[in-house]
Amino acid sequence: AVPVEVNISKLDEGQLIKVMWRGKPIWVVKRSAATLAVLGAHDDKLRDPQSEEPQQPKYAKNPWRSIRPEIFVAVGICTHLGCSPTYQPDNFSDHVDGVTSGFFCPCHGSGFDMAGRVFQGVPAPLNLVVPPHHYLDDGRLVIG
Ligand code: FES
Repeated sequence: AVPVEVNISKLDEGQLIKVMWRGKPIWVVKRSAATLAVLGAHDDKLRDPQSEEPQQPKYAKNPWRSIRPEIFVAVGICTHLGCSPTYQPDNFSDHVDGVTSGFFCPCHGSGFDMAGRVFQGVPAPLNLVVPPHHYLDDGRLVIG
């Protein structure tokens, strides 16, 4: 499959852009320092907080699950039955107490935090998948 280049130089904090790669929606989200700061605060509510499951490249096995902490890259497909979760930058606390932003799957109610880690007690079995990716420079990301 052909890699896809994404220009992220104009991405604002909190903004999500979607590109297609291998027929799948790929999300690229720019997280703020405040968002990164709270990523470690709800590990007890997550199914796999350390991302022990192997559905990701090695460089995503860190607290923010990405190469550059502020840029999160994920396959935008729920790991339950494949619906596309909705990005909720402000009102995620409707689903999980004390967690303000994340991704919510409307099909059967699975929730994922801002590192794509699945919360406990929902049908999705795994964290969102991080696709292979790398950077050409500060403003250019390549998926694939
Ligand atoms: Fe997302 Fe079922 S497909 S919760």
